[in-house]
Amino acid sequence: MDADAHNLSYWATVKQEAMLVAQMYPGDEFLSRVVPGTSVLDLGCGTGVITRWLAGKGYRMIGVDINEAAIQEAMTQDALNSYVLADITDALPYPDNSFDAIVLTYVLVSMIKHEVASAVARECVRLIRPGGYVWLCEALYSPEYAKRYERGFSETGMRNVAVALDEVGDVKRFIKHYEPSEIDDLFHPLTRVYDENKTIRSSGSGMEVVSTVRMYQKV
Ligand SMILES: C[S@@+](CC[C@H](N)C(=O)[O-])C[C@H]1O[C@@H](n2cnc3c(N)ncnc32)[C@H](O)[C@@H]1O
Repeated sequence: MDADAHNLSYWATVKQEAMLVAQMYPGDEFLSRVVPGTSVLDLGCGTGVITRWLAGKGYRMIGVDINEAAIQEAMTQDALNSYVLADITDALPYPDNSFDAIVLTYVLVSMIKHEVASAVARECVRLIRPGGYVWLCEALYSPEYAKRYERGFSETGMRNVAVALDEVGDVKRFIKHYEPSEIDDLFHPLTRVYDENKTIRSSGSGMEVVSTVRMYQKV
């Protein structure tokens, strides 16, 4: 099964539910380094919960997502900032160096093949200005997910890919859990300036997943 195509059609059509916990919001490291008033791109913004939160801190926000209903909802709740319907694995319609920071919150978890995640990372590198930042929160490989990785492997032939199942046991979506070094490799032209691991309980599965919060700078 092409896990990325499956995920894309899942995310484009699913009714998005609030799945955020406070630990996933950009923390002090982001707030102290990225100056309010500057422009921030929230890739895979969903209904714009973090986009609006950052707008409330004074950033000029643009949110991008593949889910039309989520983008509509975001626009209804936030008339000041911009929301754009687009596939972030494609080239985005902004010039090089046009953002001060980019935020990715549980977005690379949906990018299963390396080349798909790297297309997103390359766009981030292109779009941030020199001195700008990429901030991300993504799930890491956890041994407790062994059973889910087994099913992911049998469906995709790829390691560290967990499955979320629906009520009848069919695959709802695939979830890529990263090794920290894989994330560093994706963003390798950038310099890592911050990283911290957090254990976050998934509102979907109820399981805890170790996640990494990382910040990279284009020096
Ligand atoms: C787990 S949700 C996280 C949403 C949001 N960042 C948050 O933290 O609330 C993943 C989001 O990425 C979006 N997404 C997944 N693949 C995408 C793609 N190829 N292009 C644009 N958005 C995508 C989904 O529609 C969804 O809103």
